[in-house]
Amino acid sequence: MTKEKSVIALAEALIFDQALVKFQGAYVGAVAALSQLGDAPGLNYGEVFIRDNVPVMLYLLLKGKTEIVRHFLNTCLQLQSSQFQTRGIFPTSFVEQEGKLIADYGQRAIGRVVSVDATLWWPILAWMYVQRTGDQEWACSPTVQSGLQRFLELILHPQFREAPTLFVPDGAFMIDRPLDVWGAPLEIQVLLYGALLSSAGLMLHHFEGDQHLLKRCLDRARRLRHYLLKHYWVNRQTIQVLRRRPTEEYGDTITNEYNIQTEMIPHWLQDWLGADGGFLLGNIRTGRPDFRFFTLGNCLGAIFGVISPRQQRALFELVIHNQTALVGQMPMRICHPPLNDEEWRRKTGYDRKNLPWCYHNAGHWPSLSWYLVLAIQSYRKHYPDSILDPQILILLNQIYQLLLQQLPRQRWAEYFDGPNGTWIGQQARLNQTWTIVGFLLVHHFLKVCPDDANILDLPVLKDLERKFETNQNLT
Ligand code: GLC
Repeated sequence: MTKEKSVIALAEALIFDQALVKFQGAYVGAVAALSQLGDAPGLNYGEVFIRDNVPVMLYLLLKGKTEIVRHFLNTCLQLQSSQFQTRGIFPTSFVEQEGKLIADYGQRAIGRVVSVDATLWWPILAWMYVQRTGDQEWACSPTVQSGLQRFLELILHPQFREAPTLFVPDGAFMIDRPLDVWGAPLEIQVLLYGALLSSAGLMLHHFEGDQHLLKRCLDRARRLRHYLLKHYWVNRQTIQVLRRRPTEEYGDTITNEYNIQTEMIPHWLQDWLGADGGFLLGNIRTGRPDFRFFTLGNCLGAIFGVISPRQQRALFELVIHNQTALVGQMPMRICHPPLNDEEWRRKTGYDRKNLPWCYHNAGHWPSLSWYLVLAIQSYRKHYPDSILDPQILILLNQIYQLLLQQLPRQRWAEYFDGPNGTWIGQQARLNQTWTIVGFLLVHHFLKVCPDDANILDLPVLKDLERKFETNQNLT
């Protein structure tokens, strides 16, 4: 066997033989990391996290192991909260204890953070499963439809703010510790867009569904995309406009809705954007936009078609332009730049795990690589005639080689520290599931079947709206 083949075989064995766990005789998902000698008691890496299982389920779908995916979705659905205050949310993670599945909705998490992304991923995963298998019967089943309904009632309830974004507390997604990511962080908004389209796609198959709810779901998705493109997309040109806006405006027809002062626009953006780069910024809040670059939110923005094909190309240009920072020795840096000094002290609450260049605070996470690879491969699949910068293909290969050479040697570590991502993360787990399966996905999309890059395609909003109108006319 070549070295490459043996690495793939090792990675698959770790996932299929060790990470996947059974409950009552059937697989319910994979633990976040394999246990290791000297594990501190009380850590939750032995639990099944919904977000960490996204790449696992995707890989299982690609491998035709669709039963496990359906069972995982059903298990999560059984754990969807029906309590008055949390009705409709899905847990961050669950674990078997004394013959029962115990879920964590945030009531056990470190710092009691809630994970909003888990809830948003469920409809997206359900859509992926139905797309790939054609299992309409499952999609139309009363349990799935009422799960979707509970989810939409949670998301679409009246609120104080008019903006179509979802307002969340700090640490509500993959970055599940304080890092000044409260408000309307990009990753949550992009996942919300995906979850709304996926829910609508799944509900449209089912005529008896609540049509009023479906209509609100479609309207929200439309407004959300428009809003993200208007407020989050930045490039050289948009920055020039932002820098010259008036402040202290009042009323309906103003340009600086969030009363953002020019001084809030950081100077590092000049180099970061280069000539042709563009990206979705991290967060929009009154007077306090967050211009940090977040890798996952941007890749999902491209994969889900929040940004246009042209903007996707600008995003890839930006990654190439900042390859030293974003890829370094271990793709990909989670966000850029880190919070430093007084900002780190105040905004993270002296969080020692999130020191500058560490963990969530600009550390490097191999589990993020497949999202970028998928974004690029998906672009190439959908726009085969478009000419991409040849550097992009070189970059893809570099990413693959770095992972292939480093990960088995570094025992599939969870994350890497330091400005280059050379050092294994100070508190990194080894044999981390999404590191392993993320590598398998990179391998699959680059070397095995680039055509599978449509796996995370969402239903198209215009098609959904058309189908909705047709259904209305039929009833
Ligand atoms: C850490 C990460 C989180 C991940 C969990 C399990 O809490 O911050 O994103 O889901 O570990 O791997």
